[in-house]
Amino acid sequence: MAVIQDNLSVVLYRELEKRLAEAANKVLPSGNYSFSVRPCADTRFGDYQTSAVMSIAKELKTNPRKLATDIVSKLEVGEWCEKVEVAGGGFINFKLKPQAMAAVLNEAARGEHLFYNKADKPRTFIVDFSSPNVAKPMHVGHIRSTILGDCLARTFRLLGHRVVTDNHLGDWGTQFGKLILGWKKYLDKEALEKDPISEMERIYRFVNERCEQDAQVLDEARRELVKLQQGDSENLEIWRKMIELSRHEFDKIYSRLDVKSDYTLGESFYNPYLEAVVNDFITKGIARESDGAVVVFFDDDPYLKDKPAIIRKSDGGFNYVTTDLATIDYRVKTWNPDEIIYVTDGRQQLHFQQIFTAFRKWHPELNDKLNLVHIWFGSILGEDGKPFKTRSGDTIKLSDLLDEAEERAFKVVSEKNAQLPEEYRRNIARLVGIGSVKYADLLPNRQADYVFSWDKMLALNGNTAPYLQYAYARIRSIFRKGGIDEGYQENKTIDLTVQEEIAVVRHLLNFGLSIEAVANEYRPNLMCNYLYELAGLFTRFYEACPVLKAGEPQRSTRLAICELTARVLKQGLEMLGIQTLEQM
Ligand code: ARG
Repeated sequence: MAVIQDNLSVVLYRELEKRLAEAANKVLPSGNYSFSVRPCADTRFGDYQTSAVMSIAKELKTNPRKLATDIVSKLEVGEWCEKVEVAGGGFINFKLKPQAMAAVLNEAARGEHLFYNKADKPRTFIVDFSSPNVAKPMHVGHIRSTILGDCLARTFRLLGHRVVTDNHLGDWGTQFGKLILGWKKYLDKEALEKDPISEMERIYRFVNERCEQDAQVLDEARRELVKLQQGDSENLEIWRKMIELSRHEFDKIYSRLDVKSDYTLGESFYNPYLEAVVNDFITKGIARESDGAVVVFFDDDPYLKDKPAIIRKSDGGFNYVTTDLATIDYRVKTWNPDEIIYVTDGRQQLHFQQIFTAFRKWHPELNDKLNLVHIWFGSILGEDGKPFKTRSGDTIKLSDLLDEAEERAFKVVSEKNAQLPEEYRRNIARLVGIGSVKYADLLPNRQADYVFSWDKMLALNGNTAPYLQYAYARIRSIFRKGGIDEGYQENKTIDLTVQEEIAVVRHLLNFGLSIEAVANEYRPNLMCNYLYELAGLFTRFYEACPVLKAGEPQRSTRLAICELTARVLKQGLEMLGIQTLEQM
């Protein structure tokens, strides 16, 4: 086997990018060009490819093929590549040496890396996610926010960024007038004990209906609200109790989903700041009075021109916009973030455009520093293509959904593994059931509506969590069968010769690219597809290549491929918030 220099990097495409820049510097000494090298879509052309020369040539008004050829003539990548070719209108294609791939695989097997680098410059991200409303059940829309937000937070953390997650609980607003009135007059204590959120929802609906019929009731509710706003101790106590009960229920769901937030600063946390925010907007001339309200106009914004935002209503009350402006301000002062991302459904797009634009007017000095991003998602539909509801037409509660996921997964698992003890099967079912729901949520393009289908998400064959969880467990079983405790043993020769081996390793080398793509585009589906492809390549490899029965160096090589595929599957799933099992 050829001797490989040990100056290999964790990710070869980064190395190729550096060398390309060096070569370009020799050909074009006046410029400073950067290159992006990506996997070839069609591996017949090579393993990696760059199209950067074409845009540079365009800029310099020169022949792209000639420029590519000149750069390649100065390029020194012989230790990694067996072929570098100029193709088409100026693409450069790279074919890697199997030894170079083997060397990276070997480093990974020794635990030096897992095919990705931490970010050069760690940034601070705030992820505003989940954010259900007090006294209301979490619905399937909140599940998407929770699952997506958690996954993005995990991804940024994996890349070494600093992440603050904040659950912006809806714990303030006019609904509390009706809720408090209902609590005082119509509360069923026993029902509250049994299912607090349903009972609070019931009293709210009851009072709400009565308000529609009877102006006197509406007036009563208003008075309760005013008392709460003025700090009446009885009303405050009821309000606090409602928050406490709701949070307790939400926490049960978070614990089932294995989701944690660093902070849960609800909307009410910002009440003391709202007055000052509005005054500052007025003083700075960004907001003005209009029909008794205080309003931010966006005259210079083509999209928001006719969509002004009210920050103080004519009755003196503040609203969702005001709270969110105070929230950004608080977060900037407290954590000095580079980026704040909000994960909610698509219907809130206008709201976030308004607050982002208003905030930029308010703090122009932060415009270049602070990135505000709304990560929105589509709806979950039932199999009939209509909004996902229960048979009786009610919104589906998250806790019921998770119960059903576990129950259905239990059936699937029991069919496959009737011999395992029930307790063991229950545990598998829990991780498979929750994993399936999460994966089904992360797999579609997040801006598309998707159809919720139990059969699809629990299928053992298909792009699903159970398929990937099984793929992982199956690899672990190879090691158990071989009596190999610690997976791959270090310092064995790795020699890649068979196409199916190379195909898996080539894909492993791109794990980091997928992590970065998820972070840069806020799209977890890119990781789902990466892992699904990995599992498929692994299956083909495993069908073509005996592992335990092979002679050396094949056996060690293949065990390393098994081990690293398992580690990448585990890490990738963990980034999606999905747990793996050693045995299924
Ligand atoms: N509570 C809101 C809802 O359920 C979501 C809050 C999103 N976060 C924010 N900072 N506005 O729709």
